[in-house]
This record gives sequence, structure tokens and C-alpha cells, in this order.
Amino acid sequence: MGILIKNGTVVSATESRKLDVLVSGEMIARVGVGINESGHDVVDATGLLVMPGGIDAHTHLDMPFGGTTSADDYTTGTQAAAVGGTTMLIDFALQSQGHTMREAFDVWRAKSRGKACVDYSLHMAVTDLGPGDGAHGLREMEEMVAEGISSFKLFMAYPGVLMIDDGLMFKVMQKAAALNALCCVHAENGSAIDVVVAQMIAEGKTEPHYHALSRSPKAEAEATHRAIALADMAGASVYIVHLSNEDSLAALKFMQGRGAKALAETCIQYLVLSIEDQMPGESWEEAKYVFTPPLREKWNQEPLWEALADGSLAVVSTDHCPFRFADQKELGRGDFRKIPNGGPGVENRLQILWHFGVNAGKISPERFVALMATNPAKIFGMERHKGRIAEGLDADILLWDPTAEYTISAETQCMATDYSMFEGWRVKGNAAKVWSRGELVVDNVAQPGKFLGATGRGRFVKREANGGGMG
Ligand code: URP
Ligand code: ZN
Ligand code: ZN
Repeated sequence: MGILIKNGTVVSATESRKLDVLVSGEMIARVGVGINESGHDVVDATGLLVMPGGIDAHTHLDMPFGGTTSADDYTTGTQAAAVGGTTMLIDFALQSQGHTMREAFDVWRAKSRGKACVDYSLHMAVTDLGPGDGAHGLREMEEMVAEGISSFKLFMAYPGVLMIDDGLMFKVMQKAAALNALCCVHAENGSAIDVVVAQMIAEGKTEPHYHALSRSPKAEAEATHRAIALADMAGASVYIVHLSNEDSLAALKFMQGRGAKALAETCIQYLVLSIEDQMPGESWEEAKYVFTPPLREKWNQEPLWEALADGSLAVVSTDHCPFRFADQKELGRGDFRKIPNGGPGVENRLQILWHFGVNAGKISPERFVALMATNPAKIFGMERHKGRIAEGLDADILLWDPTAEYTISAETQCMATDYSMFEGWRVKGNAAKVWSRGELVVDNVAQPGKFLGATGRGRFVKREANGGGMG
């Protein structure tokens, strides 16, 4: 007895076809035309699209940051993801300076154990290779790859907390190249930004708006070029996270054109929010949109959409790093340096990408699938298990209703914040049903906005080191 999804249109990264999908246990058993119904529970998907469950490659759950901890833990964060159609997250384990990667790995595994509700993995953020020549840290990178952590995060921003210097970054990149692991980089020139920040504060420019103005697109573009150039020198594959503006896109495309093994993601907020609309410098409410890199001038959005369509940008994720407005963002009232950086989005990624991307004719349904699931699965070393509707893969399946209208609101969301970045927005296109490894975990038609599975059912996914799929 399996689950047979009939009469739907299966959308892959390359084509859309009327096909039936048979799920047996946790796996997709068959994909084909006219699969016999007998003995199966039949789900009628007439008018619906059958897609791989979303993969959000950039989230920060239960993360200590900015003097507080991100508001979603592994339970609320993964449930919110599932309700929005996302069945797999890659979160970040942060190594603290003076501590080992093993400690960070253990801490983050403990945070998720018994709490995660869909499958998840971790990137390891490297901040310290240990004393001397760093041999211990470099050996730990081998251990992490053996644990299934095939991507390392490097911060060029947040001096004194997470930022590393170019020498350390280059050493990690050389080791990553040897391991065929992927380097994920937060590319912003943290040192230059800190000078501007100090000058602004000295001039009394303390409001949230100045957070955005203090972090120039040029500081991001410079770091984007430097990160890719160093990775290229080291022979490593590199993935620029949360690329936010056209200058940085130009740096990425330049290095891609020179043959660098460079990929990048953007996030939903940079595609639809802007300084003009959300951060005009009028109120404290703008603290809701303080994240890093900041929102950019609106004209940057179109080039980002074009890059998603033409393939220069490979992934759309969220950088979901939620803080409540009432008591957490409040920590920075009167000093934007103290506003916890981050925003909530994991629940809304697919709605925003579909409504403003597919409905607006900027990307096709197939490109939507590539950007939200198939590419992240491939780039992050899990394409044998996730990211496609194909026989033998995990039955992480999203039934997408392109006609469903939905109003985004903090009142009804599962994310643990007291606000939404998209409050009141009416979108068309939403998850109807979601299966995670063959289990129906969301039915937004019968029980909207509710996670139906058991808490803690999510599994840690070991990922292969595959050079980001670029060899
Ligand atoms: O503001 C952000 N993005 N917070 C999370 C940490 C990061 O830089 O990704
Ligand atoms: Zn970042
Ligand atoms: Zn992030």
C-alpha cells in the first residue's frame, strides 16, 4: 500500500509533465503515466503542481547573535518551513573563537535533537584553526566532511565576532579544495564598514536607516570579488551567500566569466524589499528590516531577477534569522549597532518567489523548482536523496496550488516572530500539501498553517563533498 498522487503536473528543473507519483514508505517508488490505483491511497492532484519539497540552504535557528538568540528554535523553525513548502534546511553551526569545530558540531546537533520536524543539515562556520600553523583546525575540517558537513562558512564581516582575515580564509579554502568541500562566504568588507559605522554613530546617526547606509554595496562587491579571487587561487569552489545588489553581481559574473568555480544565492528580501519602501529613515519600525547585507535601492531588484533567470544566480534562500520586534530588536533602540541583525522568512520563501517571480513572468515554474530545491540539493551534495521527483529519492513532495490566494500575516504565521516582513501582502500560489519522507506533514487545505507530524521526526542529512557540483 502506497500513496499515489494522480492527475498532477510534475515540475522538474527542466520540464513539466502530467505524471503520476507513487510513494512507498519514505521513498518515491515510481513516476510514470497511468500507474494502477489498486491497493494505494489515491491523492487527486488535478490542477496542482507536483514539485520536490523546498530546500532552504541558509537559516539560523536557535543562534546566539547580537546579544540574544534567534527566536525560532529547531521546532518552530522547521514547522514554519514545512507549512511554507520547505522540507529541508541547511542551518549553520558557529565555531566560537578559542573553541573547536567539534564543539560547535556537538552544540548544534544537540540543539536539533528531538526538535527538528523536517530534515536538516549544517554548514560549519570556521572562525579559528587553533594555535600555530592551524594544523588542528585543518584536520578538523576532514572530520567535519566525514560527518557529512561538506560546506564551510567564512565571514568577511562582523569584526571581533565572526570575521576572519584573508590569510585564514585562504588556508581554509586550500583545505576545502583538497577535500572537494564548498566554501560559503558572507562577503562584506567588515573592517571598512566598521569605520563608517563608528563615524555615523559619532555624528549622532543612530537610527535603523543608518544601518543600511553604513554598509555600502561597494563593500559587498569588493569582498565578493576578493572571496572569489582567493578561492580561485586556492582551487576551491565558492558559494557567495545572500548576494544583494548589482555591483556584487557584476563582480560575480566577472569571475564566473574568468572560469572561477563560483556560485551565489540571493534571498527573497533583496528581490522584493528596498531602502525606499521599508527603510526611508522615518521610524523605529524600520528595525524590523535590519539585517546584513542591508536592503538596497530598489533598482537593484531587476538585475537580481535577471540573474536568477539567466543562471548567474543559482539559488534563492532566506537567511532566516528571526528576532522579535517587541523585545529583541528593541535592544538596539538608540544605537543601530545593537539591533540584532536578521529577519524572518523561511515560511514565505516559496510564496514570494512564485508570486513575484513566476506570476510576474520573471522566471518559469521550472526555474522556480531549480532555484528553490534542485540546485541547492546538487550544490550542497545531496542530489542522490533530495531535490527532485524521481524514483529512489526521498519522498519530500510539495503539492503546489498556483491558484490559491493567501494573505501573509504575523497573526497566522508559524514563525516565532511578532511581525512579518511581508505583513498584509496578498500572494497567489501556495503549498497545498507537503510530504516529508513519505509522511503528510502539512495539509493547508484541510488544516491551514498546522504542522501534522511528530516533533523531532526530522533527520540530520549527511552531505557529500562534491565541490558544489562544479567538479
Ligand atoms: O543579518 C543577518 N544576515 N543575520 C544572520 C547572520 C548572517 O550574516 O547571515
Ligand atoms: Zn551573513
Ligand atoms: Zn546568514
